[in-house]
Amino acid sequence: MHFPNGFLWGGALAANQCEGAWREDGKGLSVQDVQAFKPHVDQKDLKAHTAVSMDGILSAMADPDVTFYPKRHGIDFYHRYEEDLDLFAEMGFKLLRVSIAWTRLYPTGRELTPNPKGVAFYHRLFTAMRERGIEPLITLAHYEMPVTLALEGNGWVSRDVIGLFVRFCRTCFAEYGKYCRYWITFNEIDSCIRHPFTTAGIIPELCENGELAACYQALHHQFVASALVTKDLHEMVPGAMMGCMLTKLTVYPYTCAPADALATQKRNLENLSYTDVQVFGEYPRLILRDLEKKGISIAMEPGDTDILKANTVDYVTFSYYMSMTESVDPNAPRTPGNTVLGVKNPYLPSSEWGWQTDPIGLRYSLIEMYDRYKKPIFVVENGLGARDTVEADGSIHDSYRIDYFRRHFQEMGKAIDDGVELLGYTSWGPIDIISASGNQMSKRYGFIYVDQDDYGKGTLNRSRKDSFYWYKEVIATNGENL
Ligand code: BG6
Repeated sequence: MHFPNGFLWGGALAANQCEGAWREDGKGLSVQDVQAFKPHVDQKDLKAHTAVSMDGILSAMADPDVTFYPKRHGIDFYHRYEEDLDLFAEMGFKLLRVSIAWTRLYPTGRELTPNPKGVAFYHRLFTAMRERGIEPLITLAHYEMPVTLALEGNGWVSRDVIGLFVRFCRTCFAEYGKYCRYWITFNEIDSCIRHPFTTAGIIPELCENGELAACYQALHHQFVASALVTKDLHEMVPGAMMGCMLTKLTVYPYTCAPADALATQKRNLENLSYTDVQVFGEYPRLILRDLEKKGISIAMEPGDTDILKANTVDYVTFSYYMSMTESVDPNAPRTPGNTVLGVKNPYLPSSEWGWQTDPIGLRYSLIEMYDRYKKPIFVVENGLGARDTVEADGSIHDSYRIDYFRRHFQEMGKAIDDGVELLGYTSWGPIDIISASGNQMSKRYGFIYVDQDDYGKGTLNRSRKDSFYWYKEVIATNGENL
């Protein structure tokens, strides 16, 4: 098994989950700053965790608390990024995927010029990365937008958000284009359907035609915005590449009953449809027909179809954590996954959070995505959320994490051998950060441990887990020593 020369090994972070400094240097409030940690709610109950209401948002905005709004403090990456980059460099990272907080540059989204202190922070960050030989991969929108845009116009449901986002992106290209070859517009664009507020600023009370219709309208605006900024990137940063990103939710039939296979096919086609729009430049006919049957019509302006067709992405990225099965049997046992519920696969183990570990599913997904799109692929998220134990001497023996990665890398290597053109791999949360779905700290993904609990208590000291040394060796040998 050989990984190609120049394979881009690294890790991936999101600004809202690591930076903290929620009101510092002119930053505005984002939709993540009003997301509460709910310790008394079952961590597997995604609906309860992501539920929002207008009243809840307004009272969160008036509340200066950071304990129950952990993304407000993150892991203080805003102040400690140099130390963290040193550790990533020690592991030999070639690349680090980070996102830019829209609210640091445009606090309410409506300013005409960017906040200079916000602009300066990312110059410092990207310079520090380059000084350590780490290339940035920038996500322009990772589950984040100014909360004012959510309150004023139901987030991305408003068409005018397209222009505001384009302004933000143009600033990013002009300021940071010199540091960065690889860009992604929206993190997991499909997730709008599963958690509409964090992804698109959608508030249920403001959805006149129902939340699902609002989601599809918001998605359409995100597709158009993504196409417009792809064009801008190509014009402003010659040689740079724009990617789309999907939550790859690979589904197998629970049984070989044809009805299960058909239900599975529907789920997989639905999952792939988002990338279809961004790669092929048009909506799949089957999806439009499905929406029609549901009584949902997307308002499009003249010219939208041309914009989508003319500005498709250069490469395809996805996150991959787990797989699921599908069954038409309503009594089939279900288990949570990455913001979804699927039928439990009796052949796979699950994490404490119910996510089913499936390394072969990564090879399957890589082959499927490459065969369908015929574009270079980048795996931009993958990893195991687990609780870690710190031993008396400070060491952390996370053999379960090493085992997870090892088996996924083996399958990734086989997919490359199968012929998949894979540019690189970034593990999710190479340093422990606040979890996206549960707003908790104890669900850890990192090679680097951060001493902080679910309530924000701890020294914030960083320490190396066993997996740190293992990943370092993997990178040093370009995947030969697993
Ligand atoms: C991905 C998101 O889907 O899953 C990340 O892009 C998120 O933001 C990751 O952190 C893992 O999910 P969680 O809920 O375990 O943090």
